[in-house]
Amino acid sequence: MGIEVWARRALAQARGDPVPDDRGPPRADADGGWSALQQQVQQCVRCELHATRTRTVFGCGNAHAQWMFVGEAPGAEEDRQGLPFVGRAGKLLTAMISALGMRREDVYIANVLKCRPPNNRDPMGQEVRQCEEYLHRQVSFVRPGIIVALGRFAAQSLLKTTRPIGKLRAEVYRYSDTDIPLVVTYHPAYLLRNPLDKRKVWDDLCLAKKVLSASR
Ligand code: URA
Repeated sequence: MGIEVWARRALAQARGDPVPDDRGPPRADADGGWSALQQQVQQCVRCELHATRTRTVFGCGNAHAQWMFVGEAPGAEEDRQGLPFVGRAGKLLTAMISALGMRREDVYIANVLKCRPPNNRDPMGQEVRQCEEYLHRQVSFVRPGIIVALGRFAAQSLLKTTRPIGKLRAEVYRYSDTDIPLVVTYHPAYLLRNPLDKRKVWDDLCLAKKVLSASR
């Protein structure tokens, strides 16, 4: 009755996988290497985080999205489910996305690190260096119209800087060697502790929206 296909499709959509259909197996590289990348991340043992993770967290959403949100690293709930931003901070991120008039499925959500640092400790430089190629390949594939870096860690990693987040906000950057615009805002977990800064985050999201509209 197609129920199995439907269930696989729903799960694939949630994880941002290529959506299965009934037309038989796709050609080996029909999705431009996206599933190969997913598989590579799933099997990654480049750093010690592989030993303590439950699941890798590749990313989720629309793999051809205009908006890409990048956080730091999976937390406990993300490690359990294999999906990014599904805990309390994730609920707030979903609210931010919906304030922009979109659903989570409309955007792409990823992290700098694909594995959870034990006890939510800060990621180490060497872990970031081993992992950053994956995010770079995700960005090259999605080719979003705008990247929003969530929080100090993501902002500093993506921009290769040590400037404090307060000084990185309210400006437009380019991601790595691409022409993809990038703006910085506070992490939703920070906002849960500092709700008065929601106004600043809204300003940052409006800046991102303006940059995206201007580039269309
Ligand atoms: N914090 C992050 O930076 N990423 C997640 O996926 C969850 C919490």
